[in-house]
Amino acid sequence: MRILVLGSGAREHAIVQALLREGGHEIIAAPGNAGIAAEVETVALNPADPVVVADYAVDNDVALVVVGPEAPLVAGVADALRTRGIPVFGPGRAAAAIEGSKAFAKRIMESAGVPTGAAVRAGTLAEAEEALDALGSPYVVKADGLAAGKGVLVTEDRAAALAHAALWLQHGDVVVEEFLAGQEVSLFFLSDGTHILPLTPAQDYKRAHDGDEGPNTGGMGAYSPLPWLPEDFVEEVAERVALPTVRQLAAEQTPFIGLLYCGLIVTPAGIRVIEFNARFGDPETQVVLARLTTPLSGLLLAAATGQLAGMPAPAFTDDVAITVVLASEGYPEAPVTGREITGLDAVRDVSVAHAATARTPAGATVATGGRVLSVIATAPDFAGARARAYAALGTIGLDGGHYRRDIAERVS
Ligand code: AMP
Ligand code: GLY
Repeated sequence: MRILVLGSGAREHAIVQALLREGGHEIIAAPGNAGIAAEVETVALNPADPVVVADYAVDNDVALVVVGPEAPLVAGVADALRTRGIPVFGPGRAAAAIEGSKAFAKRIMESAGVPTGAAVRAGTLAEAEEALDALGSPYVVKADGLAAGKGVLVTEDRAAALAHAALWLQHGDVVVEEFLAGQEVSLFFLSDGTHILPLTPAQDYKRAHDGDEGPNTGGMGAYSPLPWLPEDFVEEVAERVALPTVRQLAAEQTPFIGLLYCGLIVTPAGIRVIEFNARFGDPETQVVLARLTTPLSGLLLAAATGQLAGMPAPAFTDDVAITVVLASEGYPEAPVTGREITGLDAVRDVSVAHAATARTPAGATVATGGRVLSVIATAPDFAGARARAYAALGTIGLDGGHYRRDIAERVS
């Protein structure tokens, strides 16, 4: 099958690698990165331009488009492809608002009876102040729209919470939310608009530094499975969160076709949704797909063409997977880019998913952004997977580069 993968991160590289493992596909990535370009054809087109992407897919007989990041979804790329009759894994603009607008997501959850934290939408600083005092400390303030992982502040400092609200009120509304305490879980569901199939739970490490210190990032590492979860966890999230949400979106004539990312906190009072995303998570995808044994292309095509009903749930190995993200100096505040990455040819027993990388004319690989690459390791147990991942990171050089040393150190 000729498959076009949109995006340029480690998530997209992991998707490409999973498709390559199946064999027999012709894969094109747009725009990709240096690691993706070493494995498949890449095309330098803007993945968030609906007309450009749809024209390319039609002209090149693409059988399936897989949309990696959220920006093309929110820009309406999936709508443009569907209008032209191209199967696409990714929701249209209206359904992608489940990620693009926190206020929209809250309204859908309320209508569908999905458990989530209490929240108040504020359009002015006075409203934000009132909401902060009503919900109390610790304060949780979220930008309403897409904010590349920078829109959420959790703090006990009321002045800092207000300042964050003031900053994001310049761009739109903010949402003030009840603080939820507990373990975080990312659980992905494939949806064809009506039916869903679960993937496998993963845990993301959002903070920049060991021990969950430092600022929030896009994600510094992940592991899967989560052996500490109750046995019926996936079923419960399917029944109480994913299915009601997909049904609500369908009832509002905005069917969700693609990947519903449920960001959850397991509180003492039960499961609560903290966010939905409309696409695969990064870096969770790297560990989820490393364990997937069912061919990915069949699942994505079935979702894109409304044929998930009656399909068996995707299968996963009993091996565990971990991923550790190597980030540039200064990430997330002000990443230093342009530095050479060395030692990639010497890594053993892991796979490397490139994120922000480019090749120079002289053949060097350089970092072009904050999260540079993900090292992915599988093994029968977490100690083994950690040993592999960190041995590989020891051989990769990047001046000023940093990564967390505690990914999957305590799995409990
Ligand atoms: P988000 O961008 O919504 O994923 O939020 C980023 C991070 O902020 C989450 O991964 C949580 O660690 C934290 N967070 C978000 N909402 C809440 C909440 N209501 N209570 C506690 N922590 C939260
Ligand atoms: N790892 C968090 C996300 O993909 O949104």
